[in-house]
Amino acid sequence: MNAKIDFDARTAKMVEAMYLTPDVVGQRVAILAALRLMPGEHLVDIGVGPGLLAEDASRMVGEEGRVVGIDVSDAMITMARTRCAALPQAEFFIADAAKLELPDARFDAAVSTQVYEYVEEIAVALKELYRVIKPGGRAIILDTDWDSIVWHASDPALMRRVLGCWDAHLADPHLPATLSSKLRRAGFQVQRVEIVPMMSVGYQPHSYAAGIMRGILSFVRNNGADHSLSSDEIQSWYDDQLRLAEKGDFFFSLNRYLFVVNK
Ligand SMILES: C[S@@+](CC[C@H](N)C(=O)[O-])C[C@H]1O[C@@H](n2cnc3c(N)ncnc32)[C@H](O)[C@@H]1O
Repeated sequence: MNAKIDFDARTAKMVEAMYLTPDVVGQRVAILAALRLMPGEHLVDIGVGPGLLAEDASRMVGEEGRVVGIDVSDAMITMARTRCAALPQAEFFIADAAKLELPDARFDAAVSTQVYEYVEEIAVALKELYRVIKPGGRAIILDTDWDSIVWHASDPALMRRVLGCWDAHLADPHLPATLSSKLRRAGFQVQRVEIVPMMSVGYQPHSYAAGIMRGILSFVRNNGADHSLSSDEIQSWYDDQLRLAEKGDFFFSLNRYLFVVNK
């Protein structure tokens, strides 16, 4: 079974709250530094989500530039449109990463963060990404490899089973490991790959780690039965994390991988 997340209005709000934490603000700083946007440039943001990156990008390209954000989720597109309502250079519409419905060679740059790991037709989607960028243009792609996680638990076997269930929310929970070759096959030159870590040593409720822990709890409660996880086991996994947090023994570390590529 491959259960997926429905990015409805409730989930969109949860993602927005998690992406406003200092950890993910830091991630956006790294992405924008790699993008190196200039006034007047045209950018496409694939899987734009709440539009937090699109808002910064729109201010950086200015009114003579353009930012086009696409997403499959109606709730995310509404949120991005609301966030960027005062920015005429920003435009958002529903489309799939595997069928962009945009002209060839239209953009100076493209960005897609935490999206391709959800996409089943990854080879088609990367060809679409290549198609819409101008020759010589650039793209920044960031995805998580859930094999990179170090998360302290009193019962490591139970933690592995919970994370095994969580892996089912993605089309490919280990995409970064094969993304360089997939990007090259789509026609790109891979310039460099950087790690962007999410790390919490000690528990802080307004952090990526706390947000994702709540997200995993909700997903595993709905899908745990397919992975032979009982409700008692799920609750015991969560309670253990709260106990470790109270004792000052909470430790969470996970890597994003940021790819800088050229057409
Ligand atoms: C984890 S959120 C990331 C949002 C945003 N890129 C960010 O980093 O803030 C994943 C987003 O990818 C979108 N998404 C998933 N599959 C997609 C697809 N096939 N085409 C376009 N968007 C997709 C979801 O609707 C959601 O908004």
